[in-house]
Amino acid sequence: MATWSAPGKVFLFGEHAVVYGKPGIAMAIRPRVYVTVRKSKVMHHARSPYIDGCFEEMGVKGSVYVNSQIPSSSGLGSSAAVTVATVSAINDEFSLGFSQEEVANSAFLIEKRVQGGKASPTDTSVATFGGLILILGTQRRRLPPQNFNMVIGNTMVSHSTGKMVEMVAELRKRQPDICNPVMDAIEGVTMGALRYLQDQSQLGRYMNMNHALLDVLGVGHPSLTRLVLAARSAGALGAKTTGAGGGGCMIAICPRTVKNRVAKAIETAEGRAIITTMDPEGVRKERDVT
Ligand code: MEV
Repeated sequence: MATWSAPGKVFLFGEHAVVYGKPGIAMAIRPRVYVTVRKSKVMHHARSPYIDGCFEEMGVKGSVYVNSQIPSSSGLGSSAAVTVATVSAINDEFSLGFSQEEVANSAFLIEKRVQGGKASPTDTSVATFGGLILILGTQRRRLPPQNFNMVIGNTMVSHSTGKMVEMVAELRKRQPDICNPVMDAIEGVTMGALRYLQDQSQLGRYMNMNHALLDVLGVGHPSLTRLVLAARSAGALGAKTTGAGGGGCMIAICPRTVKNRVAKAIETAEGRAIITTMDPEGVRKERDVT
């Protein structure tokens, strides 16, 4: 038996723009997914296509127990975390000898296949390596870890990442004169924010700018606006949509002393709040559950 866990993720900057080769910054966050794998003679199918995909890809049979603290379909990288933790647990249980790099690559290919060819390696990289990651084209670079106080607001409005990505692609085709400068501005915000990773007030201002630019791309939603404004009014230094938008989650960065107030404001505005910080660790082995 082998139990492994992997963290969820948020985009701090640059979602959607990364699809067009612009830089982005993503961060591993504390809610984790725990996966236990046990060898068996027959395959016990899981209810998740991601888990079944892992067993198929790795050519082994077993049973699985999953305990997820990450809400699914919320843009917090739960499918990538499940896939990375399952690949790692299979790797351990069957002594396959994969390196971390190989775990990240396999998990990405599995996620992409399950999602019909649409996945970016960001989520699986963050779930594997943890911490703060700069996405630069096809490259992923680790940035120095930071101790952000963050509140995530889940609008509970379901959204489809694929559809939102398609919508932006459509806008870019129809109105390149508007869309391309917005992508350039998001790049400017991301690169500017890189210089202020240790100055949370400045970082918050950049987050607000990134949020406005995402709204211009058409990936906003009234529920996201409501939670973002509630968080800012309650003392957040900055707040923005995170991930694909159109529902899903927003994030707020705040001084430690106001995080409870920000979380309460998000709940009052009909969101679900999660107080979190960066998780510096990626996928890791856990004590087995019996
Ligand atoms: C979704 O979490 C982030 C997007 O940029 C898509 C992607 O990077 O794959 C919208």
